[in-house]
Amino acid sequence: MAMADLLLRVRFQLPHNFSSCSPFAITPVQFMHSMPLVVAAGGVCCDIRRGGGDGGRKLAMGIMASSYLPRAFARWPMPAHSSGSGGSAAFAHLGKNSTGDRFVLNAADMGVTGAVVDAAEEVEDRVVASDEFRSTALISSREQYAAMYRRSVEDPDGFWADIASHFYWKTKWQSEDGKIHSANMDVRNGQVAIEWFKGGETNICYNSLDRHVEAGLGDKIAFFWEGNDPGVDDKLTYKELLERVCQLSNYLRDQGVKKGDAVAIYMPMLVELPIAMLACARIGAVHSVVFAGFSAEALSQRILDCRPNIVLTTSGVRRGSKVIKLKEIVDDALQHVLSEGFAVGTCLTYANDSAVKREDTAWQKGRDIWWQDVVPNYPKESAVEWMDAEDTLFLLYTSGSTGKPKGVLHTTGGYMVYTATTFKYAFDYHDDDIYWCTADCGWITGHSYLTYGPLLNGASIVVFEGVPNYPDAGRCWEIVDKYKVSIFYTAPTAIRSLMQSGNEPVKRHSRKSLRVLGSVGEPINPSAWRWYYDVVGDARCPISDTWWQTETGGFMITPLPGGWPLKPGSATLPFFGVQPAIVNENGLEISGECSGYLCIKAPWPGMMRTLQGDHARYETTYFAPFKGFYFSGDGCRRDKDGYYWLTGRVDDVINVSGHRIGTAEVESALVSHPQCAEAAVVGFDHEIKGQGIYAFVTLLEGVEYSQQLRASLVNAVRTHIGPFAAPDKIHWAPGLPKTRSGKIMRRILRKIAAKQLDELGDISTLADPSIVDQLIGLRDK
Ligand code: WTA
Repeated sequence: MAMADLLLRVRFQLPHNFSSCSPFAITPVQFMHSMPLVVAAGGVCCDIRRGGGDGGRKLAMGIMASSYLPRAFARWPMPAHSSGSGGSAAFAHLGKNSTGDRFVLNAADMGVTGAVVDAAEEVEDRVVASDEFRSTALISSREQYAAMYRRSVEDPDGFWADIASHFYWKTKWQSEDGKIHSANMDVRNGQVAIEWFKGGETNICYNSLDRHVEAGLGDKIAFFWEGNDPGVDDKLTYKELLERVCQLSNYLRDQGVKKGDAVAIYMPMLVELPIAMLACARIGAVHSVVFAGFSAEALSQRILDCRPNIVLTTSGVRRGSKVIKLKEIVDDALQHVLSEGFAVGTCLTYANDSAVKREDTAWQKGRDIWWQDVVPNYPKESAVEWMDAEDTLFLLYTSGSTGKPKGVLHTTGGYMVYTATTFKYAFDYHDDDIYWCTADCGWITGHSYLTYGPLLNGASIVVFEGVPNYPDAGRCWEIVDKYKVSIFYTAPTAIRSLMQSGNEPVKRHSRKSLRVLGSVGEPINPSAWRWYYDVVGDARCPISDTWWQTETGGFMITPLPGGWPLKPGSATLPFFGVQPAIVNENGLEISGECSGYLCIKAPWPGMMRTLQGDHARYETTYFAPFKGFYFSGDGCRRDKDGYYWLTGRVDDVINVSGHRIGTAEVESALVSHPQCAEAAVVGFDHEIKGQGIYAFVTLLEGVEYSQQLRASLVNAVRTHIGPFAAPDKIHWAPGLPKTRSGKIMRRILRKIAAKQLDELGDISTLADPSIVDQLIGLRDK
């Protein structure tokens, strides 16, 4: 038994002045509590729950082996927790994952005294689906999963061919000896190349729409659209959606858009956004959706990379109480690309009058066209372009460890089969489910699990234009009740932010339609998991914590609800066909219980095929670091049950509210400021966002450090990337800690940002070690 597994239960009394001796602000605890304590060797951990209506406060504290303690302790908000669970339930929240959830406290300072009252016992928080849930689940036991999983890795061709045969193929894939894929993932054996279903001809739009309409599902609702303001809504059946898609695809064809041409899309969450994606897919055009929170400059960079002749946008959008003039941003971007010698021919603009009216929208005659003036005039039927399974479906740009975003390229057949299958199993999808994914189509989740995955399954999908806390923190649950949502998929950052408003906004709505919950984008800390499970799901709905990436196309490690017990904070087990490997620094796979770098050792249908225009970068980033493997960029731990616990990025990428931001991108935005000499950016733990952006900035000689300058530096990042990448903290740095060869030692900067000053490690290799003290002195200046 590992040290960390040795958990002892202890009762002790908490002093009255608990809050004053704790390094964090904690509501004073007025009563003496008896509580369980986890004891091993080393630091002290604590998870505190304030009881709600029942007046009870539950507290759990733990001392755990220091080897097991997470490096960075996040200060998650305290959940108000009014369920009737006793101390041991709260105790169980000290799960073994360490993606935040714990506080380091000094036991002696707190005056904690305790005595061991129970014998050693192994405590683990496991959540098991009810018999009722399992009775209808697609996968209802680990054995059933294991048998399917075994086949998926021993005979991937047979496994995926069986599934693929349920889709419509104009021409079946070519297969010699039953082989439906070929792959080289090992850079030592030549170029990395992945193919699935090669020679097969299909169309993902046809499979998402026509196939269902032809099967008699034309009147089923495809999209329930909920506007930013309550009461503003719309809905589209599969038949209506197909007609709208056909009209737009006819318009695009009329503009000369052909198979293989790129189309850039910069739109908010109106149904026109997935319609635009589907229309491109129908005619074989490559869509490149850019999240409508990126700045003009970021948009222009993406346009210059994929060179579309047409951009689709919207006059503007209202997000909560804010109005954002999207067309203006596009105008700036198009101006910028023009100055780089590239002209976009057409800017098709959807007039979203509720945000920005036509007459208030700047217009360039000849280039700009109102969507509503032209698209509805086109026929409601349009021919399908049959695509080879390996023809490009879309590009989606994501951040990497250099300043230039990577154009992740996905192809048609494998992506289609993979997103549909992962959606079905990970959410235990049944035909009568109503599904809501809160993601924006500007990110991969909106591609795979708001658009393609659910539509390929013929699902009814809620599309929400607004934000979770507008007009108040109950909005999500109001929408759940309004549409009888049964599967709800969101990000930990949204859960943590809603948690802050307490239980009342949740409890005020019934939520009885909910059946399955999902989480994506970053590790979900156990206390947010618990709140999501206990309060949102009334301890009734399994949570699928889905680990995956833009690059993987679909879920890689995820619970299949009903299949096996969940552990809060763990993405649990690999999906069918996914073979994870945890490797050490030397690139050697390690087995059993271990921690290391998360790699995947065999190809899967949904994986990206290349980076737009840069196959060399594709190989160096993903396949060269650990030979023979796909490298995810994430750290990971595997426990004794084979469960995977994602621990965050190990490269220079920060995950802010589930959005990947490269530190290099932020640094290059900062140094573009005329008064900035140098910048180094690191991530730090953030209560709501998961990670925040912490920038060390050196100004040019003679420039005075001022509050005003801080604001203008933050503004530079907003302009270069977008508001979501704005640094949370600017730390003035007269110099940066560098080695003699000039390399910035980010490890030290991360420790300073996290205030872990006793963990700075060896600083003697720095060219100028005194800089460290100077930086510490300037921490809150
Ligand atoms: C992180 C989003 C832990 C991870 C789908 C990954 C997660 C990056 C999870 C990809 C999860 C995503 N648990 N970490 N369930 N889901 N991540 O490309 O660091 O925007 O590498 O794709 O998000 O982010 P991306």
